[in-house]
Amino acid sequence: MTPLPEHGTPWPDLEHRMRALGARDVKWREGKTAVYVFNAGPEIEQVKKAAYAMFSEENGLGPAAFPSLAQMEREVVGFGLALMHAPAGAAGAMTSGGTDSITMAVKAARDHARAKGQKGPANIVIPYSAHPAFDKACALMDIEVRRIPLKDYLADPTAMEAAIDANTLMLVGSAPCFPFGLIDPIPELGAIAAKHGVWLHVDACVGGYFAPFAAMNGAALTAWDFALPGVMSISADLHKYGYASKGASTVLFRSEALKERMTFDAGPWPLGRMTTPTLAGTRPGGAIAAAWAVMNFLGVDGYRAKQGAVVQAREKIEAGVQRLGFRVHGAPQLGLIAFTHERADTFGLFAKMHHRGWMQGALVDPPALHLMLSPIHNEVADVYLTDLGTALADSGVAPKAANYSE
Ligand SMILES: Cc1ncc(COP(=O)(O)O)c(C=O)c1O
Repeated sequence: MTPLPEHGTPWPDLEHRMRALGARDVKWREGKTAVYVFNAGPEIEQVKKAAYAMFSEENGLGPAAFPSLAQMEREVVGFGLALMHAPAGAAGAMTSGGTDSITMAVKAARDHARAKGQKGPANIVIPYSAHPAFDKACALMDIEVRRIPLKDYLADPTAMEAAIDANTLMLVGSAPCFPFGLIDPIPELGAIAAKHGVWLHVDACVGGYFAPFAAMNGAALTAWDFALPGVMSISADLHKYGYASKGASTVLFRSEALKERMTFDAGPWPLGRMTTPTLAGTRPGGAIAAAWAVMNFLGVDGYRAKQGAVVQAREKIEAGVQRLGFRVHGAPQLGLIAFTHERADTFGLFAKMHHRGWMQGALVDPPALHLMLSPIHNEVADVYLTDLGTALADSGVAPKAANYSE
């Protein structure tokens, strides 16, 4: 237990102490962090902080009190729906993050299935690579999760179809999945979902605000959004490749009626009835405002440039690690990549890279180094590759092994 200080402390002292605390954190602004943060440069950081501060006290729970936030949320959701080719009448909401958006989509699918007469113990069918947020949502709602093995790092539509039964609420595909950065075969999953009358959710938490711009820049991506008729809902985070402040995601639905399944309508209590659109009660005005500001600040051109830089970084690193003898898992097209060296211990390499200041992710199945890249990484990709080559050499694997055939 830490007792609350008896007397207050002046802000300059606190600021000083907080800077000292922060000094122990990773130096993500220097570009050596490829997990947890998205570094789109100091200008974006300044815009989002200023916008957040302007609305940090306002509360999105009260749209009548704060029509400003209601309008900003409507516009942000509208941007998402348009980017993801939603049909007329589609709707959505801002949430606090990917886990929240996913939870709300599962809740909507559950209530939709119940309204259609589903009674037995419910289940959802998801690929092995789907984010654990689905497990969390299902644990909260007492829903069984059927995690189906992958085929070539992607969701396996045939195996997933075989797992569907009368109590399946939802089928899930990712665009892309976090572990490998790959877009699942959503068109096939959409056809299966339509055939069985099951809700298809696309988890585009990490790709929803990346893939549309990569496509505009010329990438030939697997179709994954509302252009596919089977897609009922999409989770897409603004606090990832939307470059917004943390605490901002969107959950989008094919129609207003499907979105209404997400609403929680409670009462009675002394205030009568209380309906909330998402999991949260109080909704941080700062997160809504920062997302709105960054999206308007960047516009399509700005996002295309930022995501183009990320793709360039990924291409450089992909080619570089292959030259060093690593095998890239699947064929990533967006900002994430995972790779393994068959002759080096992945976690030994991870530790050596960490020692050189690199903070990145790692997979355990299969063991692999993992990067979630930001625009800044385009400037430091060569340094990363040099350091990785040194780490390999320190592990007793000569970098020249690069050209050995797999
Ligand atoms: C594909 C995917 N889904 C869901 C999430 C969960 O998002 P959050 O951490 O914002 O709850 C993540 C986070 O990385 C993700 O990559």
